[in-house]
Amino acid sequence: MSIVEKFVTMDYGPAPEDPREALAWLDRHKRRFGHFINGAWQAPLHAKYFDTTDPSTIEKLAEVAQGSPADIDAAVKSARSALPAWQFLTPHARARYLYALARQVQKHSRRLAVLETLDNGKPIRESRDIDIPLVARHFYYHAGWAQLLAQEFPGCEACGVVGQIIPWNFPLLMLAWKIAPALATGNTVVLKPAEFTPLTALAFAEICQEIDLPAGVVNIVTGDGSTGEALVAHPDVDKIAFTGSTEVGRAIRKATAHSRKKLSLELGGKSPFIIFEDADLDSAVEGLVDGIWFNQGQVCCAGSRLLMQEGIAEPLIAKVCDRMNTLRVGPPLDKAIDIGAIIARVQLDRIQRLVDQGVAEGATCWQPSIPMPSRGLYFPPTLLSNVHPTSIVAQQEIFGPVLAAMTFRTPTEAVELANNTVYGLAACVWSESVNVSLHVAAKLKAGVVWVNCTNLFDASCGFGGYRESGYGREGGREGLLEYLEPTWFKNAPQLHPRPLAIDQPPPQLTEAMSESSTPPIDRTVKLFIAGKQARPDSGYSTEVRAADGRLLGEAPLGNRKDIRNAVEAARKATSWIKATAHNRAQVLYYIAENLSQRREEIATRLSAVGGKQQAESEINASVERIFSYAAWADKYEGAIHNPPFRNVTLAMQEPIGTIGILCPAEAPLLGFLSAVMPAIAVGNTVIAVPSEIYPLITADLYQLFETSDLPAGAVNIVTGRPAELLKTLAEHDDIDALWCFADTPTCATAKSLSIGNLKQVFTNEGRHIDWFNPTQSEGRFFLQHATQIKNIWVPYGE
Ligand code: NAI
Repeated sequence: MSIVEKFVTMDYGPAPEDPREALAWLDRHKRRFGHFINGAWQAPLHAKYFDTTDPSTIEKLAEVAQGSPADIDAAVKSARSALPAWQFLTPHARARYLYALARQVQKHSRRLAVLETLDNGKPIRESRDIDIPLVARHFYYHAGWAQLLAQEFPGCEACGVVGQIIPWNFPLLMLAWKIAPALATGNTVVLKPAEFTPLTALAFAEICQEIDLPAGVVNIVTGDGSTGEALVAHPDVDKIAFTGSTEVGRAIRKATAHSRKKLSLELGGKSPFIIFEDADLDSAVEGLVDGIWFNQGQVCCAGSRLLMQEGIAEPLIAKVCDRMNTLRVGPPLDKAIDIGAIIARVQLDRIQRLVDQGVAEGATCWQPSIPMPSRGLYFPPTLLSNVHPTSIVAQQEIFGPVLAAMTFRTPTEAVELANNTVYGLAACVWSESVNVSLHVAAKLKAGVVWVNCTNLFDASCGFGGYRESGYGREGGREGLLEYLEPTWFKNAPQLHPRPLAIDQPPPQLTEAMSESSTPPIDRTVKLFIAGKQARPDSGYSTEVRAADGRLLGEAPLGNRKDIRNAVEAARKATSWIKATAHNRAQVLYYIAENLSQRREEIATRLSAVGGKQQAESEINASVERIFSYAAWADKYEGAIHNPPFRNVTLAMQEPIGTIGILCPAEAPLLGFLSAVMPAIAVGNTVIAVPSEIYPLITADLYQLFETSDLPAGAVNIVTGRPAELLKTLAEHDDIDALWCFADTPTCATAKSLSIGNLKQVFTNEGRHIDWFNPTQSEGRFFLQHATQIKNIWVPYGE
């Protein structure tokens, strides 16, 4: 072909990457891999192997071991025995190991990229230019945190042995996201790669050997879901970090509910890609190509829902179709390929099934007439238009190269449509107006928002979801918190189990209690809902007695309906939700002021619980606690990250929403305020169940709130049988988070009942918290649970 002919057609010739070195590496291992346990390769105890194949040819690449519970046990034991020596190292020594891992990944970067493409089917352009450089960046970045750990996270320590389970869409990158922060914070690891893509994890195991990482610090056990299940169930694992489907995330949540395992979940998504009329449409279309066709759309944060402002829908769709006509689908080792192979037959079938269902529900399907490979697992880039917002293709994660397009008229409608999903992982906003973009970004329920850009990732910027996209963050400072615990919390003694009922037979009188004066039975306590004192729906009350058996008063028996009313009130408390941090602080100071003024009368009543002295010190500590959160209200701020692109990333601390709180039984006033104040200080609304020992505190609390300008619905209080109310709170889909401060069985109940909508759960894990000790009972530990970070990426420059 002459140069003139080439110029006319502008066709790409084949540009295949040479796979020989990666294949030679497989050959060196005789194409059969055991597990990597205690720094060495170990054959699986039950001698079972399975094949891993190249999805672009469906040819077998190698055999890997199928991990059994016995293999998991061996790996966990190895991680446990490596833990003390790993933790004993100085932060600098651990930093050197992480730095060495980063260097070694860079040295082998091409082989790793080719291996990833062979095993996964993703274009070499992506594995070479995105996945592997980000892997190295993660280890570099976390080498830095390992060095700074003691200075930056005083009073914290590693969780211990961490079980990590990763998916197949970014195999080595997900490994790096998991292993780098775990090692930097002094944990040891058992990682299970996805069954479809184990090879780069095994190559990484070899890298650990090459840099002489102490044996047992990183263990890799291959296998399928049952291997993951065994890892989750292992009693000697302190934390589970999971990335994968929401369905498996839910199963893991259930399996860990009755343990103290810390859990972070990065799950699915159905991310909106919003384009406003004033957007630079050509840039937006390029962004969209990256947003939905990157990695064949097998991306948890794929921009799979295109939301277009009505006026530009037609020209935009035309541009999208034009661009789709130029996409090249083919062998992923070809450097000029845009879309590679789908991971497995089962996924391919799933994509087809969902597209068919979308069409049956009324969507119009368009696919470009582009050449498709004759063998291997491929799916053409697909555009579904006229999609109804409730259609399965607008609601379910397809995890393939399929875009579902819809229109909107106003920014408000765009936000409503965007948030009309159970997920909340990521979103894109395209508009040339910085005001519109940031206004919309703030309203989106998503952990990451890309403004006029898409799919940007960096180790310094946290990534993670809202709602059923999971919780916890990977990357950034917040990512490290997932692998650390306050030392006091880890070592706190167990709280004695107490039955959950307020009408228990009275316990014995103690000396401290006998000094209390006898308060009169003159209190008609009510519930506090929507800023009003309310009678319980049940029409029943229950007796509240002092420790010595004296009748102190009666508390209403709230039920499901009262909780439902309280949730409705909390959702409607927009004047609190929209209040500025300064205004929230002012209200909190006012509550403290009013408590201080009424200290005498409240102390007299409260002395029935633990004596006069105890009541006085509880009130003093309470005033101070409220002051503390009034101070925090306008100081618990986000950060601005500087990722290595022409971007700033705004890490915003956002409230979680509506929080249900089962307050501690002990210290009725201080315990209530220690739990509720951090939640409202940052803008959440609350439904609180007060101390089961002394629910009568409700009357003092609502009088305080009523006189302190706290908007109606910001705090709602429902008394009743805690076990019953906890169940309702846990199962209510409009409650975003559940906090529970109680004994171990109650905490386990809270965790296991709230699996449905995957609410975030914060408990004391049945441990004793000294509510009088500010180190334990106030500050960042609580505020971290009251907020979630949204990272908004904003590009700059021409
Ligand atoms: P999956 O969630 O089943 O697998 C992810 C990982 O979890 C794998 O390592 C797997 O072996 C392991 N696993 C499976 N069952 C387990 C269990 N009961 N306990 C512990 N570990 C378990 O994802 P799968 O089947 O590969 O893909 C199915 C769908 O999940 C996809 O179509 C996609 O919608 C979604 N997905 C989402 C991902 C994300 O990053 N959000 C990643 C992968 C899949």
